[in-house]
Amino acid sequence: MKKLLSLLLVTILLLSAGSALAANKVGVAMPTNSLQRWNQDGANMKAQLEAAGYEVDLQYANDSVSTQVSQVENMILGGAEVLVIASIDGSSLGTVLQTAKDNNIKVIAYDRMLTDTPNVDYYATFDNYKVGTIQGKFLEEKLDLANAAGPFNFELFAGSPDDSNARYFHAGAWDVLKPYYDAGKIVVKSGQVDFETIAILGWQTKDAQARMDNLLTNYADGTKLDAVLSPNDSLALGITNSLQAAGYTLENFPVITGQDCDVANTKNIIQGYQAMSVFKDTRTLAAQVVTMVDAILKGEEVPVNDTTTYDNGVFVIPSFLCDPVFADVNNYKELLIDSGYYTEDQLKVE
Ligand code: BGC
Repeated sequence: MKKLLSLLLVTILLLSAGSALAANKVGVAMPTNSLQRWNQDGANMKAQLEAAGYEVDLQYANDSVSTQVSQVENMILGGAEVLVIASIDGSSLGTVLQTAKDNNIKVIAYDRMLTDTPNVDYYATFDNYKVGTIQGKFLEEKLDLANAAGPFNFELFAGSPDDSNARYFHAGAWDVLKPYYDAGKIVVKSGQVDFETIAILGWQTKDAQARMDNLLTNYADGTKLDAVLSPNDSLALGITNSLQAAGYTLENFPVITGQDCDVANTKNIIQGYQAMSVFKDTRTLAAQVVTMVDAILKGEEVPVNDTTTYDNGVFVIPSFLCDPVFADVNNYKELLIDSGYYTEDQLKVE
């Protein structure tokens, strides 16, 4: 009887070890841990995937394309069954994505589209065009562009040209603002308006700061700068640093937009140095991707809500778009603190 019991115990142990070993592996490739948002995305995804019973290989690529390629190769070698990839350069993973396809591994593009490849299965992101629309509309309302006489002096920034999101953000904002620009109500004194000229490669704060330093030479004669369209917070931070260094104060600070609600930027919003940011709750996106991974691995239908927008150059990727919302000094508490995204302490301004 004793023997039988211990045999039973060993069998149970072996079975549970077996099922632990068989936990499906998910590879999560993030672009960098130098920006707050990707740390949050990675951490949220790992926690939620693990809670759903998956084994997770989470890697950050330090914004290096070759590092990301070898990380994804290693995930494939390590037996990942689904890859979730937030790319650095959306078009640079073609070869490794072919290897994934050859190994029957499903691929979800995370936040940023994977372009110029047939070997991506789904795309999960926030509605990127809407992010830009929210920024454009905020500026339109804040300056009352529809009714005020103007003209208003604007300078424009766009995100990294190798990130397809940057073009959607810009299109969303510019579709709101361009009619005012065409009518002469918005003036861009530097004359720099086309996407390639205003784009900041790699979304670098320091490069946005350097470009803003240059742009300010156009305002050295005392011309008032009314607004700066910034697509995200890393650029908004550089723009704000530049303006502060040039002596701008709360009395004459331009209206600046942003995205991500990074801690430093939210503090600037509280103090009045940044007017708004677009809040993309990374917990929501992570939860959506976990649902998609789960459906893929269970052979169920994968939820998508957009099958027309995201053409990656080869085909339109079935996508799930989460909803971005705008945050400013009036609603940040409710959005960011009450929801548990940040603690009050984290946003304390010294
Ligand atoms: C993301 C933004 C982020 C930017 C820079 C974009 O692809 O959608 O949320 O601010 O990359 O990291």
